[in-house]
Amino acid sequence: MTTPDISLSCRDIERYLGEDESRVHALRGVSLDIAPGTVHAVVGPSGCGKSTLLYILGLLDHPDGGFVMLEAETVSHLPDDELARRRNEFIGFIFQFHFLMEDFTAHENVMIPMRRLGQLSETAMRDRAAELLAAVGLSDKLQRASRHLSGGEQQRVAIARALANHPRIVLADEPTGNLDTKNSQRAFDLLKTIVQQKQMALLLVTHNPAIAEACDWIHEMQDGRIIASHACGFG
Ligand SMILES: Nc1ncnc2c1ncn2[C@@H]1O[C@H](COP(=O)(O)OP(=O)(O)OP(=O)(O)O)[C@@H](O)[C@H]1O
Ligand SMILES: [Mg+2]
Repeated sequence: MTTPDISLSCRDIERYLGEDESRVHALRGVSLDIAPGTVHAVVGPSGCGKSTLLYILGLLDHPDGGFVMLEAETVSHLPDDELARRRNEFIGFIFQFHFLMEDFTAHENVMIPMRRLGQLSETAMRDRAAELLAAVGLSDKLQRASRHLSGGEQQRVAIARALANHPRIVLADEPTGNLDTKNSQRAFDLLKTIVQQKQMALLLVTHNPAIAEACDWIHEMQDGRIIASHACGFG
């Protein structure tokens, strides 16, 4: 069914949202395989279920049918504390509005997921966060409160934070949604380069056709279904 080299996959995912007459069948039998080192775009009109799918793949929400597999283990049925442990260990998130702690420095923001996982000493966390911020070109802004960074800089802090715990997969919902074209292309290129260098996988939701076409795969969603998946010109 799945091969061992699949980082994250899902089968036949069903999800209903809302109550009674406002109940929406948000996902209708979605299946997807994400291999290490590959970059995937999910595209489709507003309301088609992209974010709902990302939350389920990211173990932040439970499907009503179907299952999610992480590193060849079926995880959907696990209790919340086990899901949280796997999420912290394997998955990095970047949200549309990056949700940085705005009074915290860039450095402290990147350490948040490391503190949550609790595997590193204070010194090791500081060093790793500084390394990640250097990788996204922010070495000179470590101690800057994030509310005093530009939108593009904040997005790069969010990228560094998503990579904090060496995730196997990064899930990003419109990661460059609030940036201008030049900065969004830059943030995406940076993220893609780091992900490919480390053989992680990346799944991102985007409305930007240039970004989608720079991915290895594009999955088109409509009305809660993936209606087409195509490979893009690798390179
Ligand atoms: N908590 C909720 N209660 C009821 N319906 C919801 C809830 N969250 C989302 N929905 C509905 O589920 C469907 C899928 O929503 P989702 O947020 O996944 O769309 P999306 O593809 O991410 O859209 P966008 O591009 O606008 O972000 C939509 O019809 C939405 O209105
Ligand atoms: Mg959405």
